[in-house]
Amino acid sequence: MAALSVADIGLILDTADSLKSISFRDIKKAPTLRGKSVVNFFYEPSTRTKSSFEIAAKRLSADTFSLSASTSSMVKGETLLDTARNLQAMNPDVIILRHSSSGAPHVFAKKLKASVINAGDGINEHPTQALLDLYTIREKKGVFKGLKVAIIGDIAHSRVARSNIIGLLKLGAHVSVSGPPTLIPKEIEAMGVSVSNDPAIAVKGCDVVMLLRVQLERQSRLLFPSLREYSSFFCFNENMLKGAKEDVIVMHPGPLNRGVEISNGVADGPYSVILDQVTNGVAVRMAVLYLLIGGAKSDNID
Ligand code: CP
Repeated sequence: MAALSVADIGLILDTADSLKSISFRDIKKAPTLRGKSVVNFFYEPSTRTKSSFEIAAKRLSADTFSLSASTSSMVKGETLLDTARNLQAMNPDVIILRHSSSGAPHVFAKKLKASVINAGDGINEHPTQALLDLYTIREKKGVFKGLKVAIIGDIAHSRVARSNIIGLLKLGAHVSVSGPPTLIPKEIEAMGVSVSNDPAIAVKGCDVVMLLRVQLERQSRLLFPSLREYSSFFCFNENMLKGAKEDVIVMHPGPLNRGVEISNGVADGPYSVILDQVTNGVAVRMAVLYLLIGGAKSDNID
């Protein structure tokens, strides 16, 4: 998101708008990317991002191929870069990469001829998640300027939070973050967001609540006493929504840890747009693929 201008974001969201209806036709296919090949290379687990990129590519008639680290020759000692060079040798048009190291897609982009899409790199960025979140916010709220967005949870390890903060601030929204002190990075205020350890303060008067999972897989030691204690302060329930605007929407990138950062009542309740985010993820990823390889211009999304 750092590299995208306001105009770039607008173009992607508008393109997603025009492609979204393909998913609701009887024949869910357009010939736009016929003859193009798309490789999904996921070094970390994924449900939503991997499947929606694959569905997006197929709905635009591209050929797709998926590779995961655990079933690739990386388990036999092949390096990431050698793996990438071998994928490149098969001449794909796009490689979609998820990796645990921040910056891995940038290394790919410098070394490969194919366009590279960042599907989440370490704790750095998850740009297509932020784009689908922005699309969903625009769909529900119409505007970004002046919108109050509260992001609550494990901010320190969240590439989703980072990409959303960058995008939302560019578009004129106000962002506040909340979580335990150990899960809020010190430099976050310098990005232009307000910080509170009390979720009730972050949520006061807000239009959008974005909840985040605690990323235990990125913590070498637990950064709070226990998950039980975490959930007693930060598990978002219907009562905590009372301070927000009446038409607040609740978002979560998934996967949900029910009972830890979100209650069943909120996850499945009337304010939740969590499954709309997933639906919109297909349209946004169709747009990203179309803009990268459907026209004359080829570039990278990071
Ligand atoms: N939001 C998200 O990135 O989900 P997955 O890890 O399932 O792709």
